[in-house]
Amino acid sequence: MMLKDKVAVIYGAGGAIGGAVARAFAREGARLFLTGRSRLPVESVAREIVSAGGSAAAAEVDALDEQAVDEHLQSVMETAGRVDVSFNAVGIPGTKILGVPLVDLDVEQFFLPIATYATSYFFIARLAARRMLEKRSGVIMTVTTQHSRMGLALSGGYGPAMAAEEALTRVLSAELAPQGIRVVGLRPQAIPETGTLREAFEARAKASAMTWEQFQESLARHNHSRRLMTLTEMADVAAFMASDSASGMTGTTVNLTMGSLDD
Ligand SMILES: NC(=O)c1ccc[n+]([C@@H]2O[C@H](COP(=O)([O-])OP(=O)(O)OC[C@H]3O[C@@H](n4cnc5c(N)ncnc54)[C@H](OP(=O)(O)O)[C@@H]3O)[C@@H](O)[C@H]2O)c1
Repeated sequence: MMLKDKVAVIYGAGGAIGGAVARAFAREGARLFLTGRSRLPVESVAREIVSAGGSAAAAEVDALDEQAVDEHLQSVMETAGRVDVSFNAVGIPGTKILGVPLVDLDVEQFFLPIATYATSYFFIARLAARRMLEKRSGVIMTVTTQHSRMGLALSGGYGPAMAAEEALTRVLSAELAPQGIRVVGLRPQAIPETGTLREAFEARAKASAMTWEQFQESLARHNHSRRLMTLTEMADVAAFMASDSASGMTGTTVNLTMGSLDD
């Protein structure tokens, strides 16, 4: 078990990526503290993990509320004594940010993903780091997508938001890695099982006149595997990156685009 007895906190754990990462971490032996803005989906993931023999507690925590994140982490410290892994899987619906050409986009809609993704990652990362510094050990993780490095139409401020997260990963690592804390991101291309990809499709469906199947094929055509990644494949890499076996990786975002994006 790669994460045996590691204490991991996941934000956005009721979502597709957060839930998949929680299941993979649990399978590898981690003790989980799952959080999300809405309690019910997080509780459902926690119940599934506990009934499969794992350890998971659920809590409602808004990742944009610094005090709420801090208080929750304090309760984790009181219960488990440490935080080994912090995983940010927070995501906002594409319906709020995608599908409008930049020339028509209002400034609030442009800044929504930039402010949401950068602020939540900043709060989550620095509050985890303050606890990890005590032990001079820990891993801080986040998820981005290839919009960070590619110009993709009708994605508004999403690309700048993803680029900001990847830049923050590097800066956090520059400050924290000398003190034993690794900071790594994962950059999957697009995962068809998720509502997020459905929303990205629906935002473009009218303009592109493609079906859902054609949309997936059009994405897969640009990678080497000619297929899109599964949630399990992404979560398996996340578990490895969180483990001590990845001790040589920090200050970087793992390219999971299956060749869609060159390094
Ligand atoms: N899906 C993909 O194909 C894909 C590919 C590459 C990268 N990503 C990135 O991965 C991340 C997660 O994507 P996903 O597909 O798992 O999205 P998702 O299924 O929509 O999950 C996102 C989760 O974040 C929660 N959340 C939103 N705002 C929050 C806040 N302020 N505090 C706490 N939790 C909050 C949501 O809860 P509520 O529902 O209660 O708002 C939801 O459970 C995003 O950053 C996305 O850009 C996704």
